[in-house]
Amino acid sequence: MTAVAISATGLFTPAQSITNDELVAAFNAYVARFNAEHAGDIAEGKVAALSPSSTEFIEKASGIKARYVMDKAGVLDPAIMAPRIPERPNEEISVMAEIGVAAAQEALTRAGRDVRDVDAVICAASNMQRAYPAMAVEIQNALGVEGYGFDINVACSSATFGIQTAADFVRAGHARSVLVVNPEICSGHLNWRDRDSHFIFGDVATAILVERADIAPAGSWAILGTKLKTKFSNNIRNNFGFLNRAAPSGEGQPDKLFVQEGRKVFKEVVPMVADMILSHMAELNLQSGDLRRLWLHQANAGMNRLISERVLGREATREESPTVLDEYANTSSAGSIIAFHKHSADMQTGDRGLICSFGAGYSAGTVFVAKAA
Ligand code: COA
Repeated sequence: MTAVAISATGLFTPAQSITNDELVAAFNAYVARFNAEHAGDIAEGKVAALSPSSTEFIEKASGIKARYVMDKAGVLDPAIMAPRIPERPNEEISVMAEIGVAAAQEALTRAGRDVRDVDAVICAASNMQRAYPAMAVEIQNALGVEGYGFDINVACSSATFGIQTAADFVRAGHARSVLVVNPEICSGHLNWRDRDSHFIFGDVATAILVERADIAPAGSWAILGTKLKTKFSNNIRNNFGFLNRAAPSGEGQPDKLFVQEGRKVFKEVVPMVADMILSHMAELNLQSGDLRRLWLHQANAGMNRLISERVLGREATREESPTVLDEYANTSSAGSIIAFHKHSADMQTGDRGLICSFGAGYSAGTVFVAKAA
């Protein structure tokens, strides 16, 4: 079978960032305003008073200290609490494609790859900004790639599903070089008025160039094996859709934005992912000592601690299981790719590691890699 490699990755980070203190101040101003406006109904027991958020809770429960966003002002305005990203005319590149292109260009540059050698673009992300044309086709056009492009959405697992799809195209001989792009404007589908989840997500874009190993540049990553899994659950949902037009801010229809049963997700996803990693390792004949690094999905520091402990049989060091949660928060499908992008330069030829994603669906993906010469 044709050997497949990850030739390079790229990262686009928005210019604006929100600290937990800034976020909590805006949220609590909204809560105070809501409670004052509804004081009468609250006193009569007709409306439940809202509770304030806290920086201490956020950091302790999630490990998140800040998040990048495309529009800080809208998110932090207690009267808006949503990004305000002006709609662009069709003649202009859409914002989601724009950040995807920025990440893709970095991946191409790092691989020394000419766009004319790329055969396909997969836009793999949680929420596309429109139905069609596919975001991937717009990204393909902006980059100047021939061939074809299409979108896939497997929520936080989109990137690993994209990597396996790209690797399968390469193995089947349909493509030699495939760009997997993950633009994640999570601020648009997060309910910034929901105390339980307002701190979770951030915006970013990543890109992964998947190629035939025999054309991959020096220092690429051999893909040792990929595995995908889905198991239906209502515990993470977003019911936004064309058949139920939501108010843009989600106000009054909170289930048209991200909602989750965080505790259940934590309890159910940790064993599912740990078991999946261990059985995939057994198939590939890998022992825990064979893995130098785990680039796990970045949703919650506690989940990652437990998963890496089950995989390694002991607590992982920060070097073995790096986090980007503190700076980026949860960036959906892009999280494990940011961790890989930022924490892999020190790996030596032959070193092995795991890129792993998990999230809504439930869905999970494992991609074992080895640093090539
Ligand atoms: N500020 C202060 N207190 C808060 C709060 C906030 N923003 N949000 C919740 N709390 C309170 C709750 O009211 C509750 O108080 P109580 O015990 O008095 O009832 C307490 O904190 C615990 O709330 P809970 O929601 O059970 O917190 P948790 O410890 O489960 O942490 C998550 C919440 C979401 C961080 C955690 O469940 C998680 O990370 N789950 C994984 C899911 C995930 O990351 N999914 C993303 C997609 S992959």
